[in-house]
Parts: sequence; C-alpha cells; structure tokens
Amino acid sequence: MKRKILVTSGLPYANGHIHIGHLVEYLQTDIWVRFQKSRGHDCVYFCGDDTHGTTIMLRARSEGKEEEEIIDEMHAAHLRDFNDFGIEFDHYGSTNTLENRKLCSEIWTAFRNAGLVEEKEIEQLYDTEAQTFLADRFVKGTCPKCGKPDQYGDNCESCGAHYEPTELIDAVSAITGTRPEVRTAKHLFVNIEREHPFLDKWVHSGALQLEIENYLAGQFLGEPLRPWDVSRPAPYFGFEIPDSPGNFWYVWFDAPIGYMGATMEWCKNVNRDGLPPLEQFNLWWRNPNAEIHHFIGKDITYFHTLFFPTMLKVAGFSLPFKVHIHGFLTVNGEKMSKRRGTFILASTYLKYLDPSYLRYYYASKLSGRVDDIDLNFEELQAKVNADLVGNVVNLASRTAKFAAQTGLSEVYPDDNGLFEQAAKFGEEIADAYETGEYSKAIRLIMECGYRANKFVEDAAPWTLAKDADKKSQLQDVCTIGINLFRQIVVYLAPILPKLKADTEVLLNDNLSRWDCAKEHLLRTEVNPYKHLLSRADTKAMEQIIEDSKVSDGGLPPNAAGQVPAADNDDDAALQAEPLLTEKISIDDFAKVDLRIARVIEAKEVPEARKLLQLTLSLGGNEIRNVFAGIKSAYKPEELVGRLVVCVANLQPRQMKFGLSEGMVVAAGPGGADIFLLSPDEGAKPGMRLH
Ligand code: MSP
Ligand code: ZN
Repeated sequence: MKRKILVTSGLPYANGHIHIGHLVEYLQTDIWVRFQKSRGHDCVYFCGDDTHGTTIMLRARSEGKEEEEIIDEMHAAHLRDFNDFGIEFDHYGSTNTLENRKLCSEIWTAFRNAGLVEEKEIEQLYDTEAQTFLADRFVKGTCPKCGKPDQYGDNCESCGAHYEPTELIDAVSAITGTRPEVRTAKHLFVNIEREHPFLDKWVHSGALQLEIENYLAGQFLGEPLRPWDVSRPAPYFGFEIPDSPGNFWYVWFDAPIGYMGATMEWCKNVNRDGLPPLEQFNLWWRNPNAEIHHFIGKDITYFHTLFFPTMLKVAGFSLPFKVHIHGFLTVNGEKMSKRRGTFILASTYLKYLDPSYLRYYYASKLSGRVDDIDLNFEELQAKVNADLVGNVVNLASRTAKFAAQTGLSEVYPDDNGLFEQAAKFGEEIADAYETGEYSKAIRLIMECGYRANKFVEDAAPWTLAKDADKKSQLQDVCTIGINLFRQIVVYLAPILPKLKADTEVLLNDNLSRWDCAKEHLLRTEVNPYKHLLSRADTKAMEQIIEDSKVSDGGLPPNAAGQVPAADNDDDAALQAEPLLTEKISIDDFAKVDLRIARVIEAKEVPEARKLLQLTLSLGGNEIRNVFAGIKSAYKPEELVGRLVVCVANLQPRQMKFGLSEGMVVAAGPGGADIFLLSPDEGAKPGMRLH
C-alpha cells in the first residue's frame, strides 16, 4: 500500500552554521526519506531555519544589521551545506514567514477558546545595560542547591537541579557580564496540565521509543505539569501575539509550528493536482491516513513529545505518527570541542573529505536507539576502506572493465543462487531501514558484497579475458558480477546517492526503485568504468582537526568568517570586553615578568569582602604574599597546592591588611565567573612566561 509520509528534522537555529553534530540528524533523516521514496511511497521532507529569539536579536544589534539580513545569509549557507552533503528537502523554509504566523495564530486561538491561556506576573532577570530580559542561557551563577559556580540559569550541570534563574547565587549576565536586576513582567502561560490525561495516553500510543516513553512517564507525567510560559515581553525578535500587544510568542511556540508553515509554503509552490493550498495542506495535517514523522535529538524531546502534541491536539491537527529520537555526537569519545578542533563545521569537513564517507559512517553507527554516537576518524577510515572501497566498489572495478568490452548476456547465467539470495535479503534490509537500524542494514548489505566478491575471485575474469575462446564465459561472469553489484547499489542508494547516480551512468540504468534489486539487468552495453570512490586518507582528517581549532581569541576559518555560535556562548566574553586596538611592541610585553607560582597557603581576609590572602612560591626562596580578588569564585582550600600565573615584578602595594607583592592573573567578568590560569602538566614554579 502506498503510504503518505511527511518527515521533518529539527529546525536548525539561524544563528550558527551546520556542524557535524547536526549532520547526525539531517543525514539519518535524508537516508530514511530516500528509502521511503525508493519504496514508492508518497514521502515529503520538510525543514527550515529556526529564526526567532534573543540570540539572533543580540547578534543583529552587535553587527548593526537587521535580523532578516542575518537570517537570509544563514539560510543560504545552510542550504549550501545541506546540498553539498546530498541532503534533499522537498522544501526548506523558515519560521519567519507569513504562513507560519498564520498557523501560530490559529493554534493560539484554539488555546484561547479552550480556556487554556492564563496571565501571570513573573519575576525575571533583566540586563539594564543590554536592555533586555535574560533567557536562561544568558544567565550564569552559582547553583543554589549544590554551590557549584558557573551554572546556567535553568539547571545545574553538576547536580542536575532545576531552578529559576532568579534563584541563582551571584547571577551575572552572559551578555554584558553585569549583575542583572529582578524585574516583573506579564507572561502568558498555557495550562497544559489540563491535557495531562491526553498526554498520559499519547506517550503510550506507539509513537515513541520505549526508553523515551519511560523517561516521559517517569520524569514528567508522574506529577502535575507546570504551566508552559509561552510569551516574552519586548524587546524580542519573533511574532507579536495578536491579542497581547507588546508580548511575543516564545521561540519554542512558533518553531515546531514551522514544520506546518513549511508544508503550507510547499503546498503553494507545488500546486499538486491543482488543489487549493489549504486542501493540500489538510491532506497532510488533518488526515488520519497520512503519517507524520519527526526526527530530533534527545535534547529537544519534551518540546516534541509534550508541548507540540498538545498544540496539535487542541487545534485539531494530526498527531505525530512517530518521533524518532537520536543521541548526541561525540568525537573520539568526548563532547565536540573548539579547543580540540572537534567542533567541525560541515563546510570545513567538505574541504577535505568526501561527504559519502560521513553518510556511510553515521549510517553504520545508527541503531534506532537514543544512545550517543561516537565519531572516530580511524574507524571511519577503516570502514570506508574495507567496506566501500574494498568490498562494494571493488566488485564493480573488477568486472565493469571487462563488461564494457563484452556487454551483458541475453539470459541471466547460473550464479549458484547468489542473486536470488540477495533479492530475498531485500525485505530484511528494508525492515532495518524502516526502524532506523541502519547499522543492521549495512551488515546485511556487506554480506551480499562478500559473497559476490568471493564469486568473482573464484571465477577470475582477468584470467578468462586472456583467452579468446572464453569470451562467452567472461561475459557470463561479468553479467553476474555487475548484477550483484547493482543490487548492492540499490540497497545502499539511500545512504550513498552519489554512488547510485554514478552507477546509473555506468550501466545506462535507472536505480530509483527498491524493486530494481529483484530484476536482472541484461542485454545492455556497459560504459567504460570510471573511478567510483577513493580510499580515505588520514592526512585529510588531521587537516580538518587543525582547521577547526580555535586559537585563543582567534577566529576559526569558516566560510562566513564568524565564530560559530551554535551550542555555546563563546561570543559573549569578547562582546563584553572588546580586543584592545592599541598595539604594543615585544619589548613592552617583555617588561612584564610573568611566572608560574605554587599556592602554598591560602586564607580568607575576614574584613575584606572580595579578597583571599595567598602565599605563593616561585621556586627557590622566592615567597610572595599576594592579595587576590577571587573570594567569590574560589575557596581557600581549593587553592592550596595548585599552580597559578603571577605577575612577579608588579610594584608592591601596601593595603589595609598587609603588603601585596604581586598579582595572580585570572580571566572572567567577576563574581562566580573568575577563572585562574593553570599551566599544562610539567610546568614548575619559577618558570617565566614568554
Ligand atoms: N532550533 C531548535 C530545534 C527546533 S525544532 C522545532 C534546535 N536547533 S539546533 O540547531 O540546536 O539543533 C537542530 C537539531 O540538531 C536538533 O534536533 C538537535 O538535537 C540536533 N543536534 C544539534 N547538535 C547535535 C549534536 N552534537 N549531535 C546530535 N544532534 C545534534 O534545537
Ligand atoms: Zn548544583
């Protein structure tokens, strides 16, 4: 039966470039969509940029641009990266469109009519310098539960506690480094607790992976759901709420509706069957016979499994048929890191490596579960070289050359059942694709390849080719080799569309349908064999890491020449303290005698609010008494024994509490955000910094 399948991936933020973490998602979705299309289903893939919110507003301000300008630039950059990786959308839109605004209003009206919207005054942190309320991510401070410094405004990475940003101790704004003040503002809330019974049922409807079902039931649905704060007061870049001037829908309200907005834009563009756009749209979003599939990362689970389904249900749209949730990418077992050069942009990867490699590698790691997946370049190289070059492409290169001379036979020769066996595998491979177990699909496909290669090995066409009498035997062997190769290419086509396209040229064939793998290719010419895929080379991988490293304060070499803003707030510090423009000579710098020092004693100075008294050893008999303004960030007992960097030739200064004979250097705006520097392993007290 022909299914109607609408597929989405999470909408990438318009304030950062696509990186290899994102690609875990877009590649796996693209593979799934290509698979469904090859099976003959009516499958469409929609995505677009997530454009609203505080980050983009602040960036527009700091770059002196309109938000729309940034959005347009990023839209083009995202599309280019996706296209270069072979990711094909039926439509790639944006949340900042008229279609989306209308759909937001429709859903909002449904909430109002259902009596689910409530107004409340709430206290929020306000940055008086940046003149904006601070989203949770823009506040840092000490965790009120466990006392760990440097935590974000909503939860503690150390103890996992959830809290309000106003509860943070010594909160500072990550935008300006100033202390925010508490202000009161009106917010609109959706009382989703009223839909608790619906959600209790829905999470067990089969749309979710078992681990997610359990997580939601355990973490959220066991107690009353807190009202969802869906508005933000001006200034905010987003859609103003029609019946609440001065207030805007929170970005997470309009973002998932963006899937529907993109659908509507597409309906207007394609004009299928001459139907009016709204009728077409309803065939997807108000049709029990259409399936809606969302692919997302685990970090945005509850938006897609609690809030969005509630919105859809209340407004009378179809509920998601499946939410496919994947884990996060780590590189060499660790979180992506700019310092280590593993925060790799899609565009940087593409400068050095074939996108097919990453498509194949990710597929080989995906299991349909929520586990994180690790990228290891050695493993990638090994898989590409062994599976793709050594197994798949090898099959073509060993037979196509001769097949170009002989053409393919009239009748399919006896191959000891190899073709039939691989054709039967087709359904098992298809099941694996359907359930997201791409690694299993690949295992099965590689097995077909091993058997086929064994056959060619034994038949040795290169020997037959030397003997003019064995021409028809040679043709038979090549016909079998090419047909077995062709089956494998059909099965791999969702993962390797480029290999499919090249093979179509080689064989004068069209391999778009899954069922091609059940049919023989006979009586045809084969074009001269052209190289299909190269071995992966480690040099290129080292180069990618080098290119992705961010030197201190420097800019990474990416296409737009900007620090990628995704996933972190690396830009905030530089904005708060711009680089000095005045240049100094090396001699000026040499006047400062910076030394490694060991803290041998540290104590509080009771009458000083900010100071700790440190005794530093610079090696030998050089002992210094130093008062350092780091009390808000460090406890004396944490410091004893560690190495720091000290300005050793600073004019001593008489203070109320004693003589300060140097200065300890540290970074950060103050409060909990003070960071002492430590040297790498091996440095000794007294070493000078050059
Ligand atoms: N804008 C939101 C999604 C709105 S959907 C209505 C967002 N954007 S994002 O750019 O941060 O991420 C887009 C998608 O990529 C998300 O599904 C996210 O989980 C996924 N990933 C982002 N970084 C990732 C990794 N490092 N690893 C795996 N997936 C990652 O969230
Ligand atoms: Zn904590």
